[in-house]
Amino acid sequence: MRIIVFGANGLLGRALISTWQGDQVTGLTRADADIRNLEQVQNSFHRFKPEWAVLAAAYTDVDGCETNPELAFAVNSQGAANVASAARDHNARLLFVSTDYVFDGLKTSPYLASDARAPRSIYGKSKAQGEIKISEILPHCCIVRTSWLFGLGGRCFPDTILRLASTRPEVAVVTDQRGCPTYNHDLASSIAQLCRAEASGVIHATNAGECTWFDFASEIINISGLKTNIRPTNSDEFKRPAERPRYSVLSPASLHAYGINLPSWQDALRRYIAARSPL
Ligand SMILES: NC(=O)c1ccc[n+]([C@@H]2O[C@H](COP(=O)([O-])OP(=O)(O)OC[C@H]3O[C@@H](n4cnc5c(N)ncnc54)[C@H](OP(=O)(O)O)[C@@H]3O)[C@@H](O)[C@H]2O)c1
Repeated sequence: MRIIVFGANGLLGRALISTWQGDQVTGLTRADADIRNLEQVQNSFHRFKPEWAVLAAAYTDVDGCETNPELAFAVNSQGAANVASAARDHNARLLFVSTDYVFDGLKTSPYLASDARAPRSIYGKSKAQGEIKISEILPHCCIVRTSWLFGLGGRCFPDTILRLASTRPEVAVVTDQRGCPTYNHDLASSIAQLCRAEASGVIHATNAGECTWFDFASEIINISGLKTNIRPTNSDEFKRPAERPRYSVLSPASLHAYGINLPSWQDALRRYIAARSPL
């Protein structure tokens, strides 16, 4: 199978390129094709003639989106629509990577793939609009929502905690946001399986289990054998420009329907820390 991956330099894109075996996978960076530019996107499909396009390119600076909404919608919504149009024109399938931030976080039980979108932040709104646009253009597209991505190949929460912990005796982390950490390699392997299974519709893909950012940070310190104190705090003390969902646990039912079961986030975190270069 021929695959093109938009966003090949990103945290997920790098994992897709390094882990995907058995297919002909071509990674495209922003320099190869800016997804805001329909002609560049069309040229990529024309040149590589993929059976599947995986759209992992996005403007992911959640707080930056609040101050630059035009860019957020241009990339995450119109850019996604451009890729969907080109996929339709070239008879290719599309897998769009989306986010738990399409939900408002008011639920107290895991979000189902069928739950209504209710984004609060500009980032969430731009990704939700991207989902809607691509579904209109390509009704059989596949939308894979994930959350709290971490891994080698880019900035991520465990990396930040380990860097802070190496220079500070204490790090404050919020206890009032709950979600599912997801290892980029595990997500990349699920995405490859979903493409091979000709998946369509909305699918939630995260590592198994759930935690708060405080729990996540505590486990990072625990596994690393560090002595740094993780101090509980809350979102009111830790104001940020974009509102984050208080609860964004994604139900794995839609992923299990394809026979894919991801390991626990603690297992994934241990593998990430083992693979990470020493500080
Ligand atoms: N990170 C998370 O915690 C998280 C959680 C849930 C969902 N997601 C979703 O997962 C996907 C992958 O996220 P990620 O963490 O891998 O993001 P990332 O590390 O920020 O990578 C995104 C990539 O998209 C590229 N890009 C940005 N604008 C572009 C444009 N106009 N044209 C082409 N490429 C462009 C970036 O290129 P440059 O490097 O040149 O800017 C970057 O390499 C995204 O769809 C994101 O919404 C992420």
